[in-house]
Amino acid sequence: MSNNKKYAVTVAGGGSTFTPGIALMLLEERDRFPIRKIMFYDNDAERQEIVAKACEIYLKENAPDIEFGYTTDPETAFTDIDFVLAHIRVGKYAMREKDEKIPLKYGVVGQETCGPGGIAYGMRSIGGVLEILDYMEKYSPNAWMLNYSNPAAIVAEATRRLRPNSKILNICDMPIDLEEKMASMVGLSSRKEMQVGYYGLNHFGWWHKIYDKDGNDLMPAIKEHMAANGFADALSQTNQHVDQSWIETFQKARDVYAVDPSTIPNTYLKYYLFPDYVVEHSNPEYTRANEVMDGREKHVFGMCRDIIAKGTAKDCGFEADAHATYIVDLACAIAENTRERFLLIVPNEGAVENFDRTAMVEIPCIVGSNGYERICQGAIPQFQKGLMEQQVSVEKLAVEAWIEGSYQKLWQALTLSKTVPSARVAKLILDDLIEANKDYWPELK
Ligand code: NAD
Ligand code: G6P
Ligand code: MN
Repeated sequence: MSNNKKYAVTVAGGGSTFTPGIALMLLEERDRFPIRKIMFYDNDAERQEIVAKACEIYLKENAPDIEFGYTTDPETAFTDIDFVLAHIRVGKYAMREKDEKIPLKYGVVGQETCGPGGIAYGMRSIGGVLEILDYMEKYSPNAWMLNYSNPAAIVAEATRRLRPNSKILNICDMPIDLEEKMASMVGLSSRKEMQVGYYGLNHFGWWHKIYDKDGNDLMPAIKEHMAANGFADALSQTNQHVDQSWIETFQKARDVYAVDPSTIPNTYLKYYLFPDYVVEHSNPEYTRANEVMDGREKHVFGMCRDIIAKGTAKDCGFEADAHATYIVDLACAIAENTRERFLLIVPNEGAVENFDRTAMVEIPCIVGSNGYERICQGAIPQFQKGLMEQQVSVEKLAVEAWIEGSYQKLWQALTLSKTVPSARVAKLILDDLIEANKDYWPELK
């Protein structure tokens, strides 16, 4: 870093399964993003303590110069910091499991961020993310929040409505992984060697242009791979998205691609374009939440407990999250005005010409010390426009329902979701979700 500054970072959702990987990644990237302090913040002291104690041991052994702390006290967590990396999951996996299983009971897609489950998660997340944003602004008014708490589309719409001037950037890692896959399909060593055009909503978008550094069109070669095997041709560069269910999602992208072979789709579109297939391939008794609880959560917490028991992190299995370096890229862009390009979730304002100006769209932006500038994507085709108008309305209605405490609007949100067959089924699912979320949602009238 040219300005010799060292940065203080708070990880919100300190008890997240991703926290150790992100903390180690921050250490590995210290040359370009120097750190003086890492704080963990969570509202579940017991869960966070396991992750934090293990990271404390690791940091003492590997980076004793970095000040480290963990807390559930907002003032301690958010005072004197430059960046908040936010990855909270309000309701944790227990509620994710309900988000996935309740819709499936009615034959509807049960997914973390898509369909009724995503709406339910959104109704829980809005309050949690706003609370953290407010703490940050109160105790460190100059800080930036880099948010990847889900469901990012609904959270971003809520911050647009309720905190329009806050320093928050909403970002998703799915396009990052998919761009790495596409780069490897055409023999490039990194997605950074490509320049892309992309438009959509979060977990709901399409690449329409991909060039290499010399301006050569890479779309034809990538399309050949998509038509044959979806994203499954490309080997994973990192340890993310490697479970069998993810591999099937990458394969299914072949069929999603076939619906519009002029663009390359985000994997999440399978939930909207092939909901019948998704439901047939779901086990209503054992969903992705169960896989994650039995897999990643057990693994990460197991390693943490092991480190604590042994009192050392030597040969402990902790690994930096290689895919998460985009977070450091983003922090550097702000800290050092690098003006690098990122796909961000931002108010449209005309960047997608023939689409709602107030929609939160996912598009390429240039990021520097004063925030982002949009890169215009022009007019989009009728097919994408139709899908996006329906989905953005779902997201906007969910946020309005949260703000107004409106049952009617939330029912409309579920009814409009392409994953839901009728207003009757929407109501059945909604009434179950209300019961399951009574500790988390505002009261609906
Ligand atoms: P996790 O349940 O392991 O961790 C989330 C943590 O957040 C928990 O420790 C929980 O106690 C804490 N938390 C919940 N509500 C809180 C609040 N109001 N204040 C402070 N802390 C709170 O979940 P995970 O699987 O590690 O995922 C974490 C988050 O990251 C989720 O939102 C997930 O969807 C998101 N995620 C996003 C991307 C992306 O691309 N945008 C990628 C991966 C994960
Ligand atoms: C991708 C998405 C995230 C999502 C995650 C779920 O990375 O971009 O938004 O949270 O997948 O992964 P999981 O392993 O928890 O099912
Ligand atoms: Mn995402």
